[in-house]
Amino acid sequence: MQSSSPSSSIFFPVKMMLLAFVLLACSTMLVSATNFTRDFDITWGDGRGKIRKNGTVLTLSLDRASGSGFQSNNEYLFGQFDMQLKLVRGNSAGTVTAYYLSSQGPTWDEIDFEFLGNLSGEPYTVHTNVFTEGKGNREQQFYLWFDPTKAFHTYSILWTPQQIVVQPQNEPGPCASQMKPQIRVGLIDLVLGLGSKLNLEARVESEAGLGLGLSFSVDGIPIRVFKNFESMGVPFPNKQPMRIYSSLWNADDWATQGGRIKTDWTKAPFTAAYRKFRARACVWYFGASSCTASKSPSSLSNEWMNHELDSTSHEKLRWVQKYYMIYNYCTDLNRFPQGLPPDCKLA
Ligand SMILES: *[C@@H]1O[C@H](CO)[C@@H](O)[C@H](O)[C@H]1NC(C)=O
Ligand SMILES: *[C@@H]1O[C@H](CO)[C@@H](O)[C@H](O)[C@H]1NC(C)=O
Ligand SMILES: *[C@@H]1O[C@H](CO)[C@@H](O)[C@H](O)[C@H]1NC(C)=O
Repeated sequence: MQSSSPSSSIFFPVKMMLLAFVLLACSTMLVSATNFTRDFDITWGDGRGKIRKNGTVLTLSLDRASGSGFQSNNEYLFGQFDMQLKLVRGNSAGTVTAYYLSSQGPTWDEIDFEFLGNLSGEPYTVHTNVFTEGKGNREQQFYLWFDPTKAFHTYSILWTPQQIVVQPQNEPGPCASQMKPQIRVGLIDLVLGLGSKLNLEARVESEAGLGLGLSFSVDGIPIRVFKNFESMGVPFPNKQPMRIYSSLWNADDWATQGGRIKTDWTKAPFTAAYRKFRARACVWYFGASSCTASKSPSSLSNEWMNHELDSTSHEKLRWVQKYYMIYNYCTDLNRFPQGLPPDCKLA
């Protein structure tokens, strides 16, 4: 899902402008072959988390006494993160495998995948959420179109600084003549450490507002997009560096069929496996981003940062949302009697 359609002429000027931005602003750290030993730390579980096969595979396990978890050594501020997971098989009811990005402190940001287990033969639920400044309540849940316990599948988070700016109708901007669309992606605001900021106004056309803030995908198919509507007052996670975390734990008080189905400990230990981690990302290191203006234009690998959904991906997103989405906070009117959150109205 990394590359968007090169053929669309509408996006041609977009590409040119964003290319300029890339060359100017950013050199991404490109992580080489997966090495869990180098990139991650098993942080809890007393031996239940293991790095295997020369650092290429990591497994977490859960039994009655404890679950386990790991975190990345690096902190990141924006990136595309791909990880292959094979989830707990058989009767996984009550177990939750979480895979997420999070910052720290009381006003933390977080981008979540959680995989809620189920009875044998019943579908896993993929639970997603986005926290900004310590507040979540943005759940969307999905079933998958395959059995996630039979083989490894790729789960990706794309997290970019792109911002959607809704162009007021009567106020011609500098590019007004060529700006038919009402939505543009604007003001890419990269924090370059120690308070210095690089503000690049990448004023680009985006026909249907397809520009991304962040997205979740499965095997390259986008399942959820959370656009950056910060300019409209919706907080977006773009100021706090985050680490990658994962854990496998027992949540049988709520996870499966509302907590009615409990973990069957006779099936323990439960195991989830990870491999082929890939980060194309800006690493946050001693208060500065590895994506800096001073670096040479070595990286066309920064395509991730300017990713836009092409029409095929957009179709796929709609397909997932139509057939596989099982919960969307944006349609839960009972939950928000005062009105839906503003991000729902803009999306
Ligand atoms: C992975 O990283 C560790 C620690 O940096 C290193 O000792 C090991 O040789 C690396 N393994 C591979 C396969 O490169
Ligand atoms: C582990 O990786 C290192 C570095 O790539 C390599 O030299 C070594 O042969 C590997 N060992 C095994 C058992 O694959
Ligand atoms: C488990 O399976 C049941 C029955 O098919 C389904 O209603 C539920 O959404 C599934 N997922 C969870 C986490 O309970």
